[in-house]
Amino acid sequence: MSDKKTILVINGPNLNLLGIREKSIYGAETLDSIRQRLENLAEKNSVNLHFFQSNSEGAIIDKIHQARENVDVILINPAAYTHTSIAIRDAILSAGIPVIEIHLSNIFSREEFRHQSFISPVAKGIISGFGVNSYVLGFLAAIDIIKSEG
Ligand code: DQA
Repeated sequence: MSDKKTILVINGPNLNLLGIREKSIYGAETLDSIRQRLENLAEKNSVNLHFFQSNSEGAIIDKIHQARENVDVILINPAAYTHTSIAIRDAILSAGIPVIEIHLSNIFSREEFRHQSFISPVAKGIISGFGVNSYVLGFLAAIDIIKSEG
């Protein structure tokens, strides 16, 4: 069995439509292209990447529960669930795995309802507003956590 560490990237609702949806806010790049970038980074840094997207809150919670078995760091863009989901927050707390919250857009410079995140208080850190680079920066932060754990 490989002793490589594993980073799980979770994408919430509507992110399957990246590249089509509200391009002026989220950019033209697709989720598949983001996955490709992270796969390259994972390979260079000898870590495993698991990449997941769901439009359903329950499926995201199940994924976080399963992660307890084999995941070292979670990167999550909870999308609209950021602002509504106490259940995802509780799942993160029960998993006991470091979580980095990421957003393509700067949620604090947008509508007021996006200023509240139920996830941020239980995340190790948050990266918001750098477009696709939020994923890249978040992934590098995840690698750093893994390396510092030894
Ligand atoms: C988002 C920001 C959320 O407010 C929004 O609901 C999304 C995407 C982002 O990546 O900027 O779907 O998480």
